[in-house]
Amino acid sequence: MSRRKSVSKEWEVRASTLARKTNNLIRDIIQNLQVEPNPEKQLIALSVGDPTTFGNLNPPEQVLQAVRESVDLHTSRGYGPSYGYPEARRAVAQYSAHQGDVSPDDVILCSGCSHAIEMAITVLADSGQNILVPKPGFMIYKTLAEGLGIELKYYRLLPHQQWKIDLEDLECQIDDDTAAIVVINPSNPCGSVYTKEHLSDVLDIASRNKIPIIADEIYEHMVFSGNEFSAISSLSKDVPVLTCGGLTKRFLVPGWRMGWVIVHDRQNVFGKEVRKGLTNLSARIVGPNTIVQRALPSILSLTPQSFFDDVILFIENNAKMAYDMLRRVVGLRPTMPQGAMYMMIEIKMAQLTDIKDDLDFVERLMCEQSVFCLPGKCFEYPNYMRIVLTVPNDILREACKRIDAFCRDHAAQRENIKAVDNFAVTLPADEEVYCENEVPSVL
Ligand SMILES: Cc1ncc(COP(=O)(O)O)c(C=O)c1O
Repeated sequence: MSRRKSVSKEWEVRASTLARKTNNLIRDIIQNLQVEPNPEKQLIALSVGDPTTFGNLNPPEQVLQAVRESVDLHTSRGYGPSYGYPEARRAVAQYSAHQGDVSPDDVILCSGCSHAIEMAITVLADSGQNILVPKPGFMIYKTLAEGLGIELKYYRLLPHQQWKIDLEDLECQIDDDTAAIVVINPSNPCGSVYTKEHLSDVLDIASRNKIPIIADEIYEHMVFSGNEFSAISSLSKDVPVLTCGGLTKRFLVPGWRMGWVIVHDRQNVFGKEVRKGLTNLSARIVGPNTIVQRALPSILSLTPQSFFDDVILFIENNAKMAYDMLRRVVGLRPTMPQGAMYMMIEIKMAQLTDIKDDLDFVERLMCEQSVFCLPGKCFEYPNYMRIVLTVPNDILREACKRIDAFCRDHAAQRENIKAVDNFAVTLPADEEVYCENEVPSVL
C-alpha cells in the first residue's frame, strides 16, 4: 500500500540523478570560455563539427527534392512504427549491404546517430557495467553513459601511428563488467581510417573475450585517396556488432536527425533478447521523424556517387592544405587525416612561451587572432587541438595563417622563423604524414 506524502513546509523539487549526471563536455568547456574575439578580425570558428555551418557544402538536389515530395504525402505526417517504416528500413538495409548480410529486420531507425549510440549502449549495458571507448574519442559516449551509471573505460589510440588502436591497452581494459567495445571508424576527432587487418585484430580481441562491438560508422565511406573504408561487421565471423550510422555527415544534413542501428549477429549470440530490447527501447521516442523516413528510399538510392566524391575531394584538399601549412608552424605537429572531416594537432608547449596548456592556447588564439579551435580538453586529451576541415578553402587558409602568426608571436625562440604563406597541395611522395614538423632550431 502506498503511503501518503508527508506534508512539507517548503517546495523541494530536484532534478533527477540522470539529469544531473548528464553532461556535454564540449558544450560545458565552450560555454565557460571567458574570451572575446579580437574586434579587428572576423571570427573564424574551426570548432563546429557541422558541415552546414558555412553554407558552402549542401546536399544534392535529389535529396532536397525527396524531402519536398515527402512533405506533400499524407502518409508522412502520422505516427510510424517506433523502429521505422518497413520501406525506409529496407532502403537502409540495401544501402548497407557492404556491412554484410543486412535484412530490413536488422535495421532500427533512430533520431540521428547519437540516438543510435544511445540505443546500442542501453541495450547492452546496465548500471555498474562499463563500455570501452577510444581516447581521444567523440564525447557523446560520456554524455550518454555516465548519467545511467555506466562507466567509461578508455583505451589508448597511438598518436604517432596514425591514431591506430593500442591493441594491448584495449585488451588490458576489459574486465568482468565490460559490456561492449566501441570502435569509431573513421574517427572523430582523429580522422584515422583503420585497415581490414587492424579491424580484424580488434575483432580477435573481442572474440577471445566474448565482448560485443558497437561500431560508430557515421563517417562510413568518407575516406581520402589511398585509403579504404571497411565496415567492421563485414569482417566479423562470430563477434556480434551493433553498427550505428545515419545521414548526418555523408549527406550533409545533421539537423534532419536520421540515424540507424544495424544488428549483425552471424552466430546468433544476441538471440531474441537484444533485438527485442532494441525494439522496446525504440518505443521511448516513438520513432524518428516520418518526413525523412518517407524520403529515405529516394535519398539513399538517388544520390549520385559524384556528389560523395566531390565532397570528400573538397575535404581532402582542405586537409592537405591545412596539413602542409600547419606542419611548418612553430610549436605545432598536425597529423594528416585519412578521412572524416577533422585534423588533430599537437601543441608542443615547450616550443611556445607563456602558454599554459591547450585551453589557454585556444583562448588566446581567439583573443588575439579571432580563430577558434576545440581544445584537446574537450576530448580529455591535453596538449592537442582539433580543427574542422569542411570550412571554405580561403577561410581555412586565412585561419592557418593566423594560427601561424599567433605561434610566431609566442615562439620560445624567434630567430629563423618564416611566415607560412605558401604551400604545396601535393605532398612529397616520401612524406611521412605524421612526421615531426620541420621548423629547425626550435627547442
Ligand atoms: C563519431 C561520431 N558519432 C556520432 C555522431 C553523432 O551524429 P548525429 O549528429 O547523427 O547524432 C557524431 C557527430 O559529430 C560523431 O562525430
